Amino acid sequence: MTQDQNAALSGIDTSVPHSARMYDYWLGGSSNFEADRELGKAFEQAIPSIKTMARENRRFLGRAVRMMAEEAGIRQFLDIGTGVPAAGDTHSVTQIVAPDSRIVCVDNDPIVHAHTKALTENTADGRTRYVQADMKEPEKLLADPELTGHLDLDRPVGLLLVAVLMLLSDHDRPWAKVSTLLDALPPGSHVAITHPTADFDPQAMAEVVEAAGRGQMTLVPRNKAQVEEFFGGWELVEPGVVPVMGWRPEETPTDPKAAYYWSGVARKKG
Ligand SMILES: C[S@@+](CC[C@H](N)C(=O)[O-])C[C@H]1O[C@@H](n2cnc3c(N)ncnc32)[C@H](O)[C@@H]1O
Repeated sequence: MTQDQNAALSGIDTSVPHSARMYDYWLGGSSNFEADRELGKAFEQAIPSIKTMARENRRFLGRAVRMMAEEAGIRQFLDIGTGVPAAGDTHSVTQIVAPDSRIVCVDNDPIVHAHTKALTENTADGRTRYVQADMKEPEKLLADPELTGHLDLDRPVGLLLVAVLMLLSDHDRPWAKVSTLLDALPPGSHVAITHPTADFDPQAMAEVVEAAGRGQMTLVPRNKAQVEEFFGGWELVEPGVVPVMGWRPEETPTDPKAAYYWSGVARKKG
């Protein structure tokens, strides 16, 4: 089946750019269309290092999952806004560091669904499940039988909200939505968050927001205090909320602020 047939079957409008497919384009994937590439390139004009930023965000995800698995012993992950499966995603990282983990991937893009479904159906041990849901409806997501049948919400969960919260406007009440998710998880759970910000280069980020608006996409950069608020009083693990390249890096970056994301991991105390 061609990519276009696949898209048509999934019921997606390929003439409207979508964050999952733009991100896939920046990461060098093939699940993207002309409209996604066009807007992707417009972002790149404002921020020439945007592809590196996407890769750095994915690398953070890997380090955060590894930390949760190895230091906190977490074996259940809830990855919301999971994106098109690719190297370095939650599924592939847990396969390496903790293959006995159970994972629920969540996204609202049908094309992510199509790819992840293939991935989960081909995983012999069935440890990864996919839920098509909207982060704006956390209660509905938490009650989804696919999620409740796969994850034990009485045991610690690693929640991943990586490069997704900027796609909710303030009007969507993102802090309340995140709080509903955090409240549903037991002590010992961890949450990892990254979020783009205008704190490092206001002009470049303003251009990106403008380009997003032209492509009918919501994109809200947030400052450090606003990002910290998402952690809802959970205990931030070292080094706290820092630029994404500076969160427990494998090698010290020359300029940690070269990727315009705040990032952090926090733990729910017992
Ligand atoms: C920029 S990608 C991030 C992918 C992945 N988390 C990562 O960092 O590598 C954002 C993802 O969030 C998904 N998304 C956007 N809005 C969403 C919503 N309201 N509910 C669930 N997923 C959403 C998009 O479809 C996309 O796959």
